[in-house]
Amino acid sequence: MEDFNQRIECYRLSYMPIDDDKDRNLSYIKIFDVGSRYLVNQVQDHIQSRIVYYLMNIHVTPRSIYLSRHGESELNLLGRIGGDSSLSTGGHNYANAMATFLREQNILDLRVWTSHMKRTIQTAEALGVQYEQWKALNEIDAGVCEELTYEEIQANFPEEFALRDQDKYRYRYPKGESYEDLVHRLEPVIMELERQENVLVICHQAVMRCLLAYFLDKPAEELPYLRCPLHTILKLTPIAYGCTVESFYLNIEAVDTHREKPKNVDITRNPEDALQTVPEHI
Ligand code: G3H
Repeated sequence: MEDFNQRIECYRLSYMPIDDDKDRNLSYIKIFDVGSRYLVNQVQDHIQSRIVYYLMNIHVTPRSIYLSRHGESELNLLGRIGGDSSLSTGGHNYANAMATFLREQNILDLRVWTSHMKRTIQTAEALGVQYEQWKALNEIDAGVCEELTYEEIQANFPEEFALRDQDKYRYRYPKGESYEDLVHRLEPVIMELERQENVLVICHQAVMRCLLAYFLDKPAEELPYLRCPLHTILKLTPIAYGCTVESFYLNIEAVDTHREKPKNVDITRNPEDALQTVPEHI
């Protein structure tokens, strides 16, 4: 409280009050009592109206956002990206372990969200609670590379593979999506996450990276390389100017699906260089 009052005193030195009469030609928004009332004046363009919409959706009620990928899938085991496969045995074990974890956490009014893909729905089913499905939470669409291993992508589309390594955030798979596309697709999900209180999002590697980057304010270059291992729940708790992160590995073994950026990203590189960081799989 003392710190808060001191800050207000500091603000008084440099802040100027807005006068609703004299300043009627300025664009501004006044927020009263943490969002119980808003005064919006002279909103003039799309960006300004988006800012108003955003500010009207955020809140300061204490809560946590739980992010998890689905349990390990059959395609994860084979090192294949994308697709819509079922959970592996380990994946089902993770879903059951997640049910126990959530019971132990004793979370008030937890909302559970999944994508439209089998592997997230099968994970949520084990929780024995109601859940909502969002198509916007589906995994990045790898287009012509769907269901291929990284080795097969290198063999069939070596130039594409190198171009992706050069700019993974902006690279769009032929007939598919880029991480940048995914960020745009996730905007309504993020807005709804801002509105809600406790939520568990059961999603996918690329999607989880985008959500994590938003809450942790990570730059676009880092986003596609954020570590989101299988069978691990991240608990994000908003605090002033950021979020705390707690990581819970539920002790159910799973394959590693994380491929670091290789040193050589030149389109003339040899396959060995291109495949240097591919994680092990069957
Ligand atoms: O199936 C898609 C993968 O989860 C995306 O992984 O963007 O690191 O290749 P990546």
